[in-house]
Amino acid sequence: MSNVPTFVIDGLKASIEDKEILKGIQLEMKGGEVHAIMGPNGTGKSTLASALMGHPKYEVTGGSVTLDGEDVLEMGVDERARAGLFLAMQYPSEIPGVTNADFLRSAINARREEGNEISLIKFIRQMEKKMKELDMNPEFAHRYLNEGFSGGEKKRNEILQMMLIEPKIVILDEIDSGLDIDALKIVAAGVNAMRSEERGFLIITHYQRLLDYIKPDYVHVMMQGRIVKSGGPELAEKLEAEGYDWIKEELGIVDETVEQL
Ligand SMILES: Nc1ncnc2c1ncn2[C@@H]1O[C@H](COP(=O)(O)OP(=O)(O)O)[C@@H](O)[C@H]1O
Ligand SMILES: [Mg+2]
Repeated sequence: MSNVPTFVIDGLKASIEDKEILKGIQLEMKGGEVHAIMGPNGTGKSTLASALMGHPKYEVTGGSVTLDGEDVLEMGVDERARAGLFLAMQYPSEIPGVTNADFLRSAINARREEGNEISLIKFIRQMEKKMKELDMNPEFAHRYLNEGFSGGEKKRNEILQMMLIEPKIVILDEIDSGLDIDALKIVAAGVNAMRSEERGFLIITHYQRLLDYIKPDYVHVMMQGRIVKSGGPELAEKLEAEGYDWIKEELGIVDETVEQL
């Protein structure tokens, strides 16, 4: 039996406060693949991540999103998570009063059938193992979720969640921001260890640097709320060497942001 997920975004449009940000996103990915979405600031990358997870602030106005043929847009946020979607946010929220360990255990159990919850012992063993892999201080298990975490600690914690939840489709929004090079390597190793046929990755990043450590199969460039160019890893290398201006010239784009339209 094949457990290779298929994730299809077809003509996705989304607005915020009646302003259209996403103008028809087209992207198909399968388990085993790593897709990178690159682009300057303000081009709609985080909006895409939020719309895919069902953030209530973003109104989807057109197109479809399916995971293994199931209509994702029909699902609530928790149903999307249960179906196997996971988003590591650019700016993770702080949740005082909920410990990291409690949050993680609930998130794991939400993906499991009732009556098949993970035992406390097994959970703690797994959590401690993954925290060690991510070089996290064990005390982070008992801290309130993200409260007082530094930027880099939040990012590591997002990867810890991903490792324990074992999603089918992982969306990482600027997971590299705020990380020094050692932390970046640890986070990248965590992601690479999770790469398998059973899981697809959508890696959103402003900088090419992350892609030196997580090798993408496909690279897409976003401007003005659309994917304007796609290619292989060589596209990311060209962007590192030459920046984004040549794409703008090639496509006759003066301002790449969504704002100025
Ligand atoms: N919550 C929001 N409220 C108002 N405008 C928003 C909000 N989120 C995004 N936008 C606007 O949408 C555009 C794209 O933003 P975003 O998706 O964050 O871009 P990126 O992640 O590529 O930097 C920007 O013009 C931004 O101001
Ligand atoms: Mg962003």
